[in-house]
Amino acid sequence: MKIEYNKSLKEYNTFGIDVNATEFVSVTSESELKSILFDKNYRELFVLSGGSNMLLTKNIDALVLHIAIRGIDVIEETKDHVVISATAGENWHDFVQYCIHNDYGGLENLSLIPGYVGSAPIQNIGAYGVELKDTFVSCEAIHTTTGEKHLFSNEDCKFDYRNSIFKNEVKGKYIITRVTFKLTKKNHRLNTSYGAIENAITDRGIQKPTIKDVSEAVIHIRKNKLPDPSEIGNSGSFFKNPIISIQHFLELQKSYPDIPSYKIDQNYIKVPAGWLIEQSGFKGKRWGDAGVHQKQALVLVNYGNASGHEILDISKKIQNEIHEKFDISLEIEVNIIQ
Ligand code: EPU
Repeated sequence: MKIEYNKSLKEYNTFGIDVNATEFVSVTSESELKSILFDKNYRELFVLSGGSNMLLTKNIDALVLHIAIRGIDVIEETKDHVVISATAGENWHDFVQYCIHNDYGGLENLSLIPGYVGSAPIQNIGAYGVELKDTFVSCEAIHTTTGEKHLFSNEDCKFDYRNSIFKNEVKGKYIITRVTFKLTKKNHRLNTSYGAIENAITDRGIQKPTIKDVSEAVIHIRKNKLPDPSEIGNSGSFFKNPIISIQHFLELQKSYPDIPSYKIDQNYIKVPAGWLIEQSGFKGKRWGDAGVHQKQALVLVNYGNASGHEILDISKKIQNEIHEKFDISLEIEVNIIQ
């Protein structure tokens, strides 16, 4: 375990923002993590996981603690199910592929989501009709000041759309070290309700899709629409899809008959932020190295050397325009470090 000084974080955040950490350490085991927490040889601590859901706007004057603890364990197995846990530093997509390779079903729709396993519960990652909470059993987390280990059950986590207890009541208080899932070994419940998945599967002439087929369909869709962070810096969806009242929606529908929507309940409806942003003319726009992705307007991108502030400025322009045009407040989904 080596402490590095004035280290660039460009390689450690998927937006590829080049800021420095005053001090940096990568921990590869729970005991290394605990020794950092117990020694308290730092003024401030900044926990860094896969860096896939953050926008850095300044140098980090703290000890940046990179969680690189690796390992996957099967905890329990019956003929129908497997309870499997992965440590926080496992790459999320690699873990999903490990499960698919072993024919463990439940995570296939979440293929190719960037980031590490440890940060997946924080925002209850979701895609194509599936959310982490659907298979999540529990996670272990270490309290940053007491060093005590705590087990959070599914219920404890208060999962919601891109939200959990880790973004609210216990924000910044715990470091997730391990996440446990219950997956199927047979009779997999495939979720192909999302139109594009169904199309990708029928296009390939597949009659009885497997979890591998679903994963491949998701990978195909994501590769077509979303920029690969190793080529173009980004943090996935920059905003949440806003939830508005039915009355508000019906009003908008008069001017925009094609507005897409997903019903939440009797009173509320979700509208895709990407659609709103595209309607406002931002899709594919670029200011220097910062811009709005050409194929998915919900994704802000760094073409090379954009600063966090340049990205944030674009997001403010977008929020103002959407507010003016649709009377909708777009909420940022990415964690802004400023
Ligand atoms: N749309 C546009 N223009 C755009 C983008 C989207 O008109 O530039 C329209 C699409 O035509 C479609 C609708 O908006 O009618 C929804 O688009 P899409 O299916 O691409 O999904 P999304 O609502 O934009 C959400 C998640 C994604 C997830 C997809 C698929 C959020 C904030 N984003 O995006 O999650 O992959 O659904 O389930 O909920 C992420 O969180 O980083 C992420 C990529």
